[in-house]
Amino acid sequence: MANKTFYITTPIYYTSGNLHIGNAYTTIVCDSIARYKKMLGYDVYFLTGTDEHGEKVQKKAEQEGKTPQQFVDDLVIGIKDLWKRLNIDYDKFIRTTDDYHEESVSKIFSYLLKKGDIYKGEYKGWYCTPCEAFWTESQLKEGHLCPDCGRPVHEAKEEAYFFKMSKYAEKLVQYYDNNPEFIEPESRKNEMINTFIKPGLEDLCVSRTSFDWGIKVKEDPKHVIYVWIDALSNYITALGYNTNDTKLFDKFWHNDEDHEILHVVGKEIMRFHVIYWPIILLALGLPLPTKVFGHGWIVMKGGKMAKSVGNVVYPDTIINRYGLDALRYFSVSCIPFGQDGLFTPEIFVDNFNNDLVNNYGNLLSRTITMVEKYFSSKVPSYKGHVTKYDEQLEKDMIETKRIYEQKMDKFYVNEAIREVFNLLSKANKYIDDTEPWVLAKDESKNDELASVLNHLVLVLKESTIMLSCFLVETSYKALEQLGITNDSYSNILDFKGVDNVKVNKKDNLFPRLNPKIEIEYLNSK
Ligand code: MSP
Repeated sequence: MANKTFYITTPIYYTSGNLHIGNAYTTIVCDSIARYKKMLGYDVYFLTGTDEHGEKVQKKAEQEGKTPQQFVDDLVIGIKDLWKRLNIDYDKFIRTTDDYHEESVSKIFSYLLKKGDIYKGEYKGWYCTPCEAFWTESQLKEGHLCPDCGRPVHEAKEEAYFFKMSKYAEKLVQYYDNNPEFIEPESRKNEMINTFIKPGLEDLCVSRTSFDWGIKVKEDPKHVIYVWIDALSNYITALGYNTNDTKLFDKFWHNDEDHEILHVVGKEIMRFHVIYWPIILLALGLPLPTKVFGHGWIVMKGGKMAKSVGNVVYPDTIINRYGLDALRYFSVSCIPFGQDGLFTPEIFVDNFNNDLVNNYGNLLSRTITMVEKYFSSKVPSYKGHVTKYDEQLEKDMIETKRIYEQKMDKFYVNEAIREVFNLLSKANKYIDDTEPWVLAKDESKNDELASVLNHLVLVLKESTIMLSCFLVETSYKALEQLGITNDSYSNILDFKGVDNVKVNKKDNLFPRLNPKIEIEYLNSK
């Protein structure tokens, strides 16, 4: 049978400025999940891209004296370059200004218009320009502020097209009920139901006339299609929906035992992904995604990291000084499941030194040094449980893999990576318990010494392979030093797998940071 398919998407990023580590977060998490699924043998398709239409982009382009197209073209070069530096292994990069996407969205709109799910009416409401969102009176925050970004909204009235959301509300709730894992975390599901569905789902305004940087309504070209209809459709147009080549769509857009569709998004855009998007799909008669995972934000002491607040950290600040994996490690471990995660220079430096330098890098370097010194660089063969600590360590190895998979399969990446670091801590403790430098002084203890080093290499191999979807550069270096070429996931617990392998000591994986200097450096950025 063909491999199971796994389609994973990031949100498509607004082309309104350079991306910060908060934006990079979603992409790094998706990249790590995609690599994990590939490692397990899934047929993976990983999509990312850019959301380029809308009033905000048009205005910014004007301010810079560029055409909107020129403006977005310039930004996209920077975004693609960034993904290259972050080693993001995506399969496709979609731009909402791509011809095939525009044509497909236009066809989607026409189809829904013809079907009667979209109709022409008049819109009166409260509009938030930065969020490009209309709100009803009751949804506003006190003081007539946008419930998402907290900025002032203004009253707006225009002839517009509407989507009959209410027609599908019941079916949507049924889908939630029948698929309890569709929305994660669970708390966001309750929030969606209570805030948007219970009060009665209002029809959604899906066209604009106040600007023209967007996809025109073919039947009525003074209207452009609402950016969120345009943007959400990217998940199917990227696969060729409504085009001459639907091979990818036919392969990946299914939701059943053998096919999974996962959208990973920040919590502030859950509403669009778990209400509007499924309703569009219901109206089109298409399967709904398997899961929408709503993650929290990277926050600074003063609140959410955001360009408009001026408290952003750019990925290059971290990568250029500490290496790519320092950023990737921080990203996948910093946001606890379902919550926000704090970035401070202190936390960053602390985690780097404790986890990457002490727990992982030092263990590797100590182990290799001892294999070189005591066994002429050749890893001793596995002989079962020789020291009184071997059995427990093996149990820990088996248990870690089980929990790691359980967490990764739920996409709780921070908990999965924590498990691996816990195993590394246990391996460090195993060194303290077995004291190989003492065993080395007594020839009668040679079997014990051999077993200790064999087990340490085994743990390092297992941990490194599990970490390879996160730490894409270092894991490769670690396996090279361990002399391990047989690094497939299916061999991860093969206890005979490192017998006689030749280790090869190189530089430490991570240099120790001087907290005072680095905290000062990060604060100055
Ligand atoms: N263009 C829309 C998405 C359309 S998807 C059909 C958009 N773009 S965005 O550029 O503003 O945000 C993209 C992603 O970056 C969102 O998932 C958002 O949550 C994420 N982040 C932006 N700031 C963030 C943090 N400070 N922390 C973590 N993620 C954050 O929304």
